[in-house]
Amino acid sequence: MAAEAAAAGAGHEVTGGVTSMEGIQDRPLPQGPYAPGTPPGALLRGWRERALLTQERLAERAGLNVRTIRRLENGALRRPRPSSILLLADALRLDGEERAVLAAAALGRTAAPPVRGDRAGTVRPAAADVPRELPADAVPFTGREAESAAIEIHGSSGAPVVIAVEGMAGAGKTALAVRAARRLAPRFPDGQVFVDLRGHRPGRAPVHPGEALARVLGALGVPAQRVPEHIDDRAALYRGAVADRRILVVLDDAACEEQVRPLLPAGPGCRLIVTSRRRLTGLDDVRAVPLDVLPVDHAIALFTATAGHDRVAGTPADVLAETVRRCGLLPLAVRTAAARLRARPAWTVEHLLARLNHARPTELDAGERGVYAALDLSYQRLPDDQRRAYRLLGSRAAEFGAEDAASVLGTTAPQARRLLDRLLDVHLLQEPAPGRYRFHDLVADHAAAS
Ligand SMILES: Nc1ncnc2c1ncn2[C@@H]1O[C@H](COP(=O)(O)OP(=O)(O)OP(=O)(O)O)[C@@H](O)[C@H]1O
Ligand SMILES: [Mg+2]
Repeated sequence: MAAEAAAAGAGHEVTGGVTSMEGIQDRPLPQGPYAPGTPPGALLRGWRERALLTQERLAERAGLNVRTIRRLENGALRRPRPSSILLLADALRLDGEERAVLAAAALGRTAAPPVRGDRAGTVRPAAADVPRELPADAVPFTGREAESAAIEIHGSSGAPVVIAVEGMAGAGKTALAVRAARRLAPRFPDGQVFVDLRGHRPGRAPVHPGEALARVLGALGVPAQRVPEHIDDRAALYRGAVADRRILVVLDDAACEEQVRPLLPAGPGCRLIVTSRRRLTGLDDVRAVPLDVLPVDHAIALFTATAGHDRVAGTPADVLAETVRRCGLLPLAVRTAAARLRARPAWTVEHLLARLNHARPTELDAGERGVYAALDLSYQRLPDDQRRAYRLLGSRAAEFGAEDAASVLGTTAPQARRLLDRLLDVHLLQEPAPGRYRFHDLVADHAAAS
């Protein structure tokens, strides 16, 4: 490989066009890049040359600066950003195994052992026994490259970890977790299990941890009559069932750590992705992937794709930007507003914006699936003192500190800080700078009406 690389000469035009994906996958893999400890730059160069791409062509395809690729290949950049790795993996059409090797090298780790049978027909469980429960991707999925890359990297690394996607109601946690899990799926040939823990579902209690275990055991092929009564026995059976299998478990909408704990990864080939509106600080070995609202350009892309390009065509950019800002850049709200526009052929984006300016809560109300209903479920889960703090503080538009909060709540600053911490933990409050707090616009709407 090294000789090939030297012969090809990095950075020089290599003859031949870009081949089809099948062509790339059919070609034998270069052996060199897989050696343990190979730096990411050498891997990158090997796969770039295999794809017959110059550094410039690869940069163009990946949407990266050619300098980033040069620095990576010559070893000057040893810790690239996860989003760059993901873009490169896509541009080089790497398969699941190769993506994992590249991701692990970029983190300075060894990848999980390769999946036997992925390439050349070695034994795998019968397809009928393998749970494939991941729901379909949100269509069209927009943005979140850095967060997807972070999940992919943690999910591909050698250590069994819990990846927690955390954020406020409607931020897109489920959509992201599903998308990332689908991309990771080829690395988990023994199955992918998806369980809705119903942490925030109208009229339904969160799933009991014992029930969640029974559900996962069922997905793994344990007949209902063999699922033990006691939760500890179920957990033991689960650990045994997954100990030497490569299984990806996605737990959606966890209300608390207790729901998750019995399902922690129990073998080196297991990975767990959890989504939650709450920070799961009580679990060990959690890699948190916090999810903020969307950047304006991605929110506009989501709005346009949902409403339809024809409904948005000709709208001035500042009107579109203002419209998605009025939706708080929150995916759920952006989609709700865009769906309203699509359903009303006579409306223009300007008209929608005027309505959002006039009566946002009414415009974004989508019943049980709307943003205010989602926030209400978070509110309902709070104890009384936190609900009171939320109501009294939540309607303030401006940033504030713990002292201000204490005077509004009629309490001491330490006590106010404790309450603010709890609201931060459930993503009903934001802390843009240390000790400075603010409520998201839509949360403020909800708090004012609570
Ligand atoms: N990146 C995205 N691209 C396209 N659609 C998205 C994206 N993120 C979220 N959505 C859409 O926005 C809506 C809300 O997303 P989602 O249900 O994933 O939010 P959530 O954070 O899981 O909410 P909750 O806290 O209520 O579980 C869904 O319709 C989803 O399909
Ligand atoms: Mg969700």
